[in-house]
Amino acid sequence: PTLIIITRDGRERAVEAEAGLSVMEIVRDSGIDEMQALCGGSCSCATCHVYIDPAHIDRLPPVETDEGDLLDCAAERRVTSRLSCQVRFDTALNGMRVTIAPED
Ligand code: FES
Repeated sequence: PTLIIITRDGRERAVEAEAGLSVMEIVRDSGIDEMQALCGGSCSCATCHVYIDPAHIDRLPPVETDEGDLLDCAAERRVTSRLSCQVRFDTALNGMRVTIAPED
């Protein structure tokens, strides 16, 4: 499946991704280096904050309590905000667009 990543400068990159990886892992593996993902995916840093395409947000499992608490601390939380290490990418999400959120 294809994931479309929009970087902070507004550029779009379509990445052919392996199903089952987290969106954070896909961004990191694509060579885009502006997502820090400091905690390595253990849901404790919020530096992997992204905005999900509204067309796909309802297909994702709901935000868990610890993810929500971290998002509350993130810069510019929106209704489409997620921590990308907590979003598992699969074929049902083919074509999903994610925008890397501003740094804190
Ligand atoms: Fe730290 Fe996602 S990488 S919360």
